[in-house]
Amino acid sequence: MDSLKHTEPDQGTTFIGTSNHGFGTQAQEELRRLFPKAAFTTIVPTEIYMFTVPESKKTVTDHIKLNEPVFVRHIQPVDAQFELDGTAADLSKLQETVRSQLHIPQGFKIAVQARKLDGASLAYTPFNCKEAIDEVIVRECKSEPVVKDPDFIVSVFLTDRAAYVGVSAPEDNLSDWAGGAIRFQKEEGQISRAKFKLLEAERRFGLDYSRYRTALDIGAAPGGWTSLLLERGCSVTAVDPARLDAQLLKHPKLTYLAKNAGDVTFKQDAFELLVCDMSWSPRQMAQLVKQLLYALKSGGTAIITIKLMHKKAFQTMRDIVEALSPELQLQQAKQLFHNREELTMFFIKL
Ligand SMILES: C[S@@+](CC[C@H](N)C(=O)[O-])C[C@H]1O[C@@H](n2cnc3c(N)ncnc32)[C@H](O)[C@@H]1O
Repeated sequence: MDSLKHTEPDQGTTFIGTSNHGFGTQAQEELRRLFPKAAFTTIVPTEIYMFTVPESKKTVTDHIKLNEPVFVRHIQPVDAQFELDGTAADLSKLQETVRSQLHIPQGFKIAVQARKLDGASLAYTPFNCKEAIDEVIVRECKSEPVVKDPDFIVSVFLTDRAAYVGVSAPEDNLSDWAGGAIRFQKEEGQISRAKFKLLEAERRFGLDYSRYRTALDIGAAPGGWTSLLLERGCSVTAVDPARLDAQLLKHPKLTYLAKNAGDVTFKQDAFELLVCDMSWSPRQMAQLVKQLLYALKSGGTAIITIKLMHKKAFQTMRDIVEALSPELQLQQAKQLFHNREELTMFFIKL
């Protein structure tokens, strides 16, 4: 794919970063470690922030992708910005900005992702912004506006007073969803919203649960994760003293142990995948999982939700990685959009 042409302002490059509410501070700490000269401006406290760094746009995105922060859900470049007056005249200014200041390559699939600050009072919607930019994309850039699988994304962030606009490849934004807010369709009869966490982990960590024949789900009730793994064709052993949803109990590939995870035993190497979503003290959870690791095959995968108590996020991560080593080797940790006061870790068993 052709690379984008960049305009690099003399004073550096600016991005808008988004995190789950309450974790913007941790995200900024991670970004500051990557870019010690980063200067931050808060847009929404503990959630959305602008940062400017002396490095080029490409250097920044390459460095962030190589050292992906746990708490930064999404970034968008700010290639141009202008003041808003809140009336429909802003849409013409937006078109002019896209036309004259953004370098949108010709002949590609382009998605426009416009979002606005909650409560910003504007006479038009983010969708109106998308429609206005789509016109420019078709007429002047000779490109195709799309919603899914774009080659490039034009991101627009609107506050009460200003619009921030940038163009980037989807992978450079860390998520190809606006603000990283990935949405899954709620299904009829869906057992729990927790299912979305395991779905998001599958995408985020590049996994395919249908590749695992046997899975152990620790802390499985009411059964959202178990239902997803059964849908993917795994044979699932679900452990939880609490009741699993009745729809699941008759599934031929389910073994349900209505027990505390400390009171179960399995054959050595019985499982290829271990998942654990116990909303419990991370240290106690790690002890329980550690005791069961003999049952996970070498080369097997573990997906574990870590509750972030008292917000000591980095210390908690270090403690868990240490507690589960050397058997489990951390591949990636990410606070997913569907995580609340928690994050998700992906390990491989040695
Ligand atoms: C957040 S829920 C899990 C939701 C589940 N992943 C889903 O998709 O429906 C946490 C579960 O962990 C279970 N749990 C907590 N401590 C446990 C233990 N020591 N052994 C087994 N299960 C435990 C609780 O009973 C609870 O049902």
